[in-house]
Amino acid sequence: MSRRLRIGFAGCGEVSVEKHMPALAELGQIEVAAVADIDTARLTYVKRRFRPARMYDNVAGLLSDPGLDAIAVCLPPALQASTAIAALDAGKHVWIEPPIGLSASECDSLVERANRSDRVVMVGFHMRWHRLVREARDIVDSGRLGVIQSIRCVWNSPRRDDKLHEWRRYRSTGGGALVEIAMDHFDLWRYLLRSEIAELFAIAVDGRWEDEAAVVSGRMNNGVLTSAVLSERASHEIEIEISGKSGRLKVSLIRFEGIEFYETMTMPSSPRARLGRLAHFAREFPRALPRMHKAGDYRTSYRDQWIHFEDCVRNRATPLVTLADGKTSVLAVLAAEESATTGKSVALSS
Ligand SMILES: NC(=O)c1ccc[n+]([C@@H]2O[C@H](COP(=O)([O-])OP(=O)(O)OC[C@H]3O[C@@H](n4cnc5c(N)ncnc54)[C@H](O)[C@@H]3O)[C@@H](O)[C@H]2O)c1
Repeated sequence: MSRRLRIGFAGCGEVSVEKHMPALAELGQIEVAAVADIDTARLTYVKRRFRPARMYDNVAGLLSDPGLDAIAVCLPPALQASTAIAALDAGKHVWIEPPIGLSASECDSLVERANRSDRVVMVGFHMRWHRLVREARDIVDSGRLGVIQSIRCVWNSPRRDDKLHEWRRYRSTGGGALVEIAMDHFDLWRYLLRSEIAELFAIAVDGRWEDEAAVVSGRMNNGVLTSAVLSERASHEIEIEISGKSGRLKVSLIRFEGIEFYETMTMPSSPRARLGRLAHFAREFPRALPRMHKAGDYRTSYRDQWIHFEDCVRNRATPLVTLADGKTSVLAVLAAEESATTGKSVALSS
């Protein structure tokens, strides 16, 4: 295939319009050829901003469009698995936003259908392509931190009451911090630590919607202790801190200079550490400037993930993030939900 890959978007909501389509417009080598949404106001908005060739007010029309190579499934969580299955039935490659389903059986149905298909299916855990996540993984792999003891994460992604779609209000329909935010951390824990989650304990609090904030702690199969503080109210932050016996790595994923390494006996307040941070800022600033007006590394992670998807489609390769990864994260979310409901920790089968 020498021409550009042609994608159709099922769903023109926040993630499609604010994350994927701008990243694809910047990339240029993949064409957003068609879009579908039941909300005609969204279609009008997308037409004005991104000028797709064709628009549909239903997903069935999109799936039967012969001019599409792949479908990006970006619908409310309850529609994700069934739509991805229908896209495979229509012979399209599939790129699917997590969660890939709301239950283990939904995930299984999709996995089973994909196993009978020669099409590429990739799950959109874009943080695996984030520059600083990649750097952190390389540092963990290098052994510089020594034996890892713990990972501590913060992810605040505030939402506005007036713009909240109904599905985002309830845990059962895929809304709230335990599904929408914890899920990405569960994938990052697995990706960074190269181990599976052994057990989870979660506490969540409701506000105007369910699970506005949550804390989740746990243990990986390799013994590493995990924790995440998640909020859909508090101000923006995405942090990961990995502590080993030889050193500690602190990563803020929304700052270009956001990676700091401290040897075990180093105080972050020492003159050497302070000067090190200043020098790091001065080094990174010129490199970050060209990325800043394009929403920085966060946007780039979406772009690079699409480059990988295109490469997998052209070469029929297995993507870095598979449906098995998508299902594992859903199972971890279900375990966290069970823990938040029962007040007991929940073991995950390995
Ligand atoms: N927003 C993010 O950053 C983000 C991050 C990770 C995962 N996700 C996942 O991506 C998916 C989409 O998220 P979002 O934030 O864009 O949600 P959203 O609610 O903003 O958008 C969903 C869109 O789907 C449309 N829609 C609903 N039912 C439809 C139907 N039957 N046919 C066609 N269109 C229909 C809605 O009109 C809406 O425009 C969700 O499953 C979410 O969990 C989103």
